[in-house]
Amino acid sequence: MSELDVSARLGLAKKIAHSAGAKARAFLARPQDLMSQQKVSTQDLVSAADTVVEAHIRRMIRRSFPDDGLVGEEAGSSHGGSGFDWVIDPIDGTMAFLVGQPNWTVSIAVMHEDRPIAGIVYAPMLRELYTAEEGKGAYLNDRRLTIRQDWTIRSTTIGYGATERADPDEAGRFVARLYREGGVLFRVGSGALMLAYVAANRLAGYYDPTLFAWDCLAGVILVREAGGKAHFSGNLQQPGPIWAGNDHVFAELKRLGAN
Ligand code: IPD
Ligand code: CA
Ligand code: CA
Repeated sequence: MSELDVSARLGLAKKIAHSAGAKARAFLARPQDLMSQQKVSTQDLVSAADTVVEAHIRRMIRRSFPDDGLVGEEAGSSHGGSGFDWVIDPIDGTMAFLVGQPNWTVSIAVMHEDRPIAGIVYAPMLRELYTAEEGKGAYLNDRRLTIRQDWTIRSTTIGYGATERADPDEAGRFVARLYREGGVLFRVGSGALMLAYVAANRLAGYYDPTLFAWDCLAGVILVREAGGKAHFSGNLQQPGPIWAGNDHVFAELKRLGAN
């Protein structure tokens, strides 16, 4: 893998993010075309915007890198022979998107042999593009991001991503432990954005007991390149928990979320 391989893909990811964001925004002007449907619950939705934007992203990637693998939330996975895989969520925070909140994102991670090597999280309504490349740092628009090392779980707020899929007793236990130790909760409806917020010191940390790879791999590299620690214990097919923060917050979130 050469540096050029990675920067060419990150360059394309930035272009894709802008055009995918514009496509998604265009749907907001014609809500009659959204045709939103429930997937497995009243809070797990898919709309025409999700499927159309994912198809657009896949087309753009295939045109430039036909041998790369693709994994996306709405259209499954296809293998490639190049060693690179793109992991994409066309709209992370579909619920936020559908109800008119600005906190939804386009999330794109580039993997090389199962390691995230580049990522972007783009929040079109907020005009914020978060980018990271392995060994080259994390950025919010043009500003370099560096995670505060002095923060604890009592600093600012902690992102917690549990959805209706969460075990209610485990969720209650985590929240009770956090509050008992002086922490406060935050939730914005896009796991990718919450990870970007950790990288940007807008949150001290983030824990979600069950995320998918497309929700979080771009955020994982953002946090790592900003000098923090992030670990996703699922894989490209299976969901799993994710913890993120500085080293100390990361360890504390693991402890608070343990059974
Ligand atoms: C969801 C968001 C949310 C997280 C959920 C995800 P979607 O993604 O990332 O923050 O808590 O687990 O499913 O469905 O809006 O793309
Ligand atoms: Ca998602
Ligand atoms: Ca999605």
